[in-house]
Amino acid sequence: MPCTVIVGAFWGDEGKGKIISYLALKDNLDFCVRTGSVNAAHTVWIDGKKYALHMVPAAFLNPKCRLMIAAGANVHVAKFLEEVELTKTHSRVVIDRNASIIEDKHSAQDKASAHLKGIGTTGWGVGPAIEERVRRTAKLARDIPELKPYIADTVTEINEGIDAGKKVLLEGTQGFMLSLYFGTYPYVTGRDTSASAIASEAGVGPTRVDDVLIVYKSFVTRVGAGPLPGELTKEEAQKRGWFETAAGTGRDRRSAPFDFELARNTAKINGATQAAVTKLDSIFPACQGKRSFGDLPSEAKAFIKEIENRASVPVTLIGTGPEALDIVDRRK
Ligand code: IMP
Ligand code: MG
Repeated sequence: MPCTVIVGAFWGDEGKGKIISYLALKDNLDFCVRTGSVNAAHTVWIDGKKYALHMVPAAFLNPKCRLMIAAGANVHVAKFLEEVELTKTHSRVVIDRNASIIEDKHSAQDKASAHLKGIGTTGWGVGPAIEERVRRTAKLARDIPELKPYIADTVTEINEGIDAGKKVLLEGTQGFMLSLYFGTYPYVTGRDTSASAIASEAGVGPTRVDDVLIVYKSFVTRVGAGPLPGELTKEEAQKRGWFETAAGTGRDRRSAPFDFELARNTAKINGATQAAVTKLDSIFPACQGKRSFGDLPSEAKAFIKEIENRASVPVTLIGTGPEALDIVDRRK
């Protein structure tokens, strides 16, 4: 997997952070490149400690991995500096010089807009920050003195890394159904969240991507407004053990059963070559902590096989608990 894109299949919160942290440890990633912005939180659990990362790439727990923020990303300076401190990654985290800056005024504009309130945005101001980039009045990372020690030309570095055979992971944020172009418009985020867009934000041409790993969760969730086919009541979700709150905003996540049709479409449009299925232990508690496919109960194996058949994509990684290493890895 020299260059792999990680893309969320649904409305975000599929557990991408967990899959990335596993790959960071197991595959000895050389580079992890985060796209998107501060609206998305990637959760990483290691040795009982939880990190909800809004800026620093989720592969930080491998001390050899170089961490990058993509040219197409939007950087929240205070949050970035806080997370660099928290993860102790000063010496190996860089920001592309052309990344945009998201400011407090963008958050204020987001929160003041009745239209955006109706969409149920996270309130971080990502939409207004992107508007400003489009108007070509946005500040860039290279203009900010506090970021000086972290500024780099990540696009050249990533492409030279790919030439040299380094293992590069492009960390998508949010989910495909929140894509500005392909999602449930207008109930979407301010950018395209597809696999192609993730590569584009990082400055990687489509022919240089080897694998697209799509991340499914064992059930579907969404926060904010907009359609959610098959939505359950909060009481039903609690009864099934699926009820969640958002890692970033603390809001209730709405939920629905796994959607095979949606899984098929999103695998196709993103060009998925592999899939991960997270939180299998939420729907089959006997899977908790299992690390081999043979140890899963037969209903759980049948569920994974049904996903493979109906979505036409091999399920190579299966999450069985919150810790980074709670994974069934079916790759050769
Ligand atoms: P915005 O991205 O803050 O503008 O919010 C637009 C929509 O995307 C809202 O429905 C948010 O709840 C949703 N959203 C944005 N980021 C995430 C995420 O990381 N996980 C889940 N939903 C998100
Ligand atoms: Mg999240």
